[in-house]
Amino acid sequence: MRLIILGGPGAGKGTQAQFLCQYLQIPLISIGDLLREAIATQTKLGQVAQPFVEKGELVPDQTMIQFVRQRLLESDVSQGWLMDGYPRTAFQAEELHFLLDDLGEKLDWAIYLKVSEEKLMNRCLERSRADDDPEIVQRRVDLFYERTIPILEYYQYRQKLLTIDGEKTVTQVQQQILERLNS
Ligand code: AP5
Repeated sequence: MRLIILGGPGAGKGTQAQFLCQYLQIPLISIGDLLREAIATQTKLGQVAQPFVEKGELVPDQTMIQFVRQRLLESDVSQGWLMDGYPRTAFQAEELHFLLDDLGEKLDWAIYLKVSEEKLMNRCLERSRADDDPEIVQRRVDLFYERTIPILEYYQYRQKLLTIDGEKTVTQVQQQILERLNS
């Protein structure tokens, strides 16, 4: 199965992605975690991404597209995957479609965790990640509405979108996702 999980910062993507990968026995590709690791170890990608991630800005599309292309060519993800944090822009969504076409693969579902702006802010501010400073979180939320919400239509049009109420408890969200995947 090939899945992407979409939602604002703090929507619970990482939480649900970990559960789903264990449940479905598929590898997790967490773009945010990979970027944070690349920054911590100062790889070439990390050096490019750092100034953007630190300010809550999106890393340029070209950098991300190239990175995801390389990641999806690796052997551990040839049978399926769940990607958290990608795509975030219309351009990334289209490029992912082309890339999967090239690989002879198809996306099964785009899971969207719908959570209000207020809850997104609160959940992020209750954590203590380096990019969870109030101003940076606000910027990430704004960018989510500006750049990522429009791609929901793209997946809706292709009948790939599963919209989930992300404001319920973690277990209830898990149950909703499984019900929708199995229906
Ligand atoms: P990324 O790490 O992907 O950050 P994000 O999208 O802002 O998402 P978060 O990790 O903050 O939240 P989450 O939805 O995973 O929530 P979580 O499960 O942790 O990206 C970081 C940065 O990298 C970006 O800002 C950007 O700069 C860059 N980047 C990444 N991808 C990019 C791309 N494709 N293009 C360009 N740039 C890119 O949950 C949050 C909290 O809520 C936790 O404390 C959790 O315990 C709690 N929680 C979860 N579910 C529930 C629930 N149901 N009820 C109550 N609490 C809950």
